[in-house]
Amino acid sequence: MSKFTVLNHPLIQHKLTIIRNKDTGTRVFREVANEIAELMVYEITRDLPLEDVTVQTPMGETVQKTLSGKKLAVIPILRAGLGMVDGVLQLIPAAKVGHIGMYRDEKTLKPHEYFVKLPSDIEQRELFIVDPMLATGGSANMAIEALKKRGAQHMRLVVLVAAPEGVKAVQDQNPDVDIYAAALDEKLNENGYIFPGLGDAGDRLFGTK
Ligand code: PRP
Ligand code: URA
Repeated sequence: MSKFTVLNHPLIQHKLTIIRNKDTGTRVFREVANEIAELMVYEITRDLPLEDVTVQTPMGETVQKTLSGKKLAVIPILRAGLGMVDGVLQLIPAAKVGHIGMYRDEKTLKPHEYFVKLPSDIEQRELFIVDPMLATGGSANMAIEALKKRGAQHMRLVVLVAAPEGVKAVQDQNPDVDIYAAALDEKLNENGYIFPGLGDAGDRLFGTK
C-alpha cells in the first residue's frame, strides 16, 4: 500500500488556517496556497538522490553534491491545481509543467476529463501531481490513470486538504502512488465537500461563483 503523509510543519498549519478562513479573499488565498505548496515540496524532496560532482571554487577543486536521478515535472489538475504550481516552481524552477483538466459533476461527484497536455518525456520524469483538494478521490484517480496511460511511471500526489475517503480511494486504486497532504480532515459532507475543509478551492482561488 502507498504511503500517506501529513506534512504538519508549524508554518504549514498556520498558513492552512489562513486559507480555511472564509473571510480570506482571493488575493491572499492565492498567495498563501502557493506558499504552502512551496513548503510541502521542500519537505517532500528530502529524499531526492544526490551524486558527487567536481567543482572549482575560487579557492580550488572540491567534490560536492548535486541532484541526480530523474528530472521532475509538476502536473496540476485544473483548475484548482494551478494554485499550487508557482509554489512548486519557486523551489524547482526547471521542472516541466503538464496539465490535466478535470471537473467534478456537482450531482454525481464523478470527474470528467477535458484536457491533457504533458511533457513528451513523461515516462522519464518523477511527477508531482498537485491539487488542493482530495475529496472522493475520483479526480485524483482519473488523473493518475491518464498519466499512466501515457507512460508515466513515478508519481506522487500532493494535496492541501485530504478527506479519509479520498485517501482510501487512491490507496485502493493506485497503491504505487504516495500521497502527501497538509491536513487530513474529518469527512466528506452530504454534498461531497470536505469538512471542515476550505470550501471550493477553484472558486476561492479564481474568485468565481
Ligand atoms: C475540485 C478539486 C479536485 C476535486 C476533488 O475540483 O480541485 O480536483 O474537486 O474532488 P474529488 O476528490 O471528489 O474528485 P473541481 O471539480 O471543483 O474543479 P475546479 O478545480 O475546476 O474548480
Ligand atoms: N472540491 C473542492 O474544491 N472542495 C471540496 O471540499 C471538495 C472538492
